[in-house]
Amino acid sequence: MSSTLHSLPASVRVVEVGPRDGLQNEKAQVPTEQKIQFIKMLTEAGLPVVEATSFVSPRAIPQLQDAGEVMAALTPSSQTEYPVLVPNLKGMERALAVGVRSIAVFTAASESFTRNNIRATIEESLTNFRPVIALATQEGIAVRGYISTVFGCPYEGRVDPQRVLSVARSLLDMGVDELSLGDTIGVATPHQVVDVLDLLTSQGAIPLDRLAVHFHDTRGIALANVLVALQMGIRIVDAAAGGLGGCPYAPGAAGNLATEDLLYMLHGMGIHTGVNLEKVVAATSFIAPFLGHAPTSKYYQAARSAC
Ligand code: COA
Ligand code: ZN
Repeated sequence: MSSTLHSLPASVRVVEVGPRDGLQNEKAQVPTEQKIQFIKMLTEAGLPVVEATSFVSPRAIPQLQDAGEVMAALTPSSQTEYPVLVPNLKGMERALAVGVRSIAVFTAASESFTRNNIRATIEESLTNFRPVIALATQEGIAVRGYISTVFGCPYEGRVDPQRVLSVARSLLDMGVDELSLGDTIGVATPHQVVDVLDLLTSQGAIPLDRLAVHFHDTRGIALANVLVALQMGIRIVDAAAGGLGGCPYAPGAAGNLATEDLLYMLHGMGIHTGVNLEKVVAATSFIAPFLGHAPTSKYYQAARSAC
């Protein structure tokens, strides 16, 4: 473990992933109108980025088959970016047709996860993205790259950080602007976060401002991991309103780190986000009845029980 600790930042950029990463793992089919309203409420809360939906195969993710309608209903805003997930050229064409200006591609650091998720090897997934990223660059569209299973894989267990570095390098070389390091099954612990970030930024020479962290709170360690990531110099953190998302591999378990919990910690430490926490709670309250279960955010639950 390294000891390159930075002082805590004055501000953090929070990337809201509830409408995409959150909803895609929710079983109940949420009506399109409600998704649109949810995104508008998150925008109203001041979130700088709201990942809105996914132009993937509707057979793979039926929840997000209304991606075109959702994007068509959103007004481009100078304050909030609305990236969408794109798996291939077909998805990119659908996204361009509705005026998308920011996309995300995704692969993983473990072969078996990639095979199960998108029926391809990591190398094949990278090859698929090459023309997508080239087209995005040509159109002046920002590209984020998700790397899943950075800290552990449901099939392979521990993942070698060198694998993460190699995938990260490939994505950056292809033209990806920002990388989001995903703890897909919520197994990371703080020293592991330090080790991975140290390898990527010291040995791998990846600039800190091109890295985001994406933790799942399955085992309740997400905020501890965020805190060490901030101490390592990370300034971009993903989260989902209400903690939406669950975990497909652990029924009933918490999913994405909740935006409310993250904001409570950051604001409590005097770190600026530009986001109104109570307005995020309002967005979660709005979407909650359509989920069929209570949101897992601890801040949300405490706010609702008003103790
Ligand atoms: N949008 C809409 N339809 C798509 C599509 C896209 N982006 N990509 C593929 N399809 C359709 C094809 O047209 C084809 O339809 P048809 O059978 O009616 O002709 C069908 O899906 C199969 O296409 P194919 O190219 O063989 O893809 P596949 O079945 O190997 O699926 C992916 C590959 C990656 C497109 C698919 O698995 C997928 O979208 N996965 C998303 C998984 C995901 O979002 N995971 C969470 C991210 S972390
Ligand atoms: Zn996630």
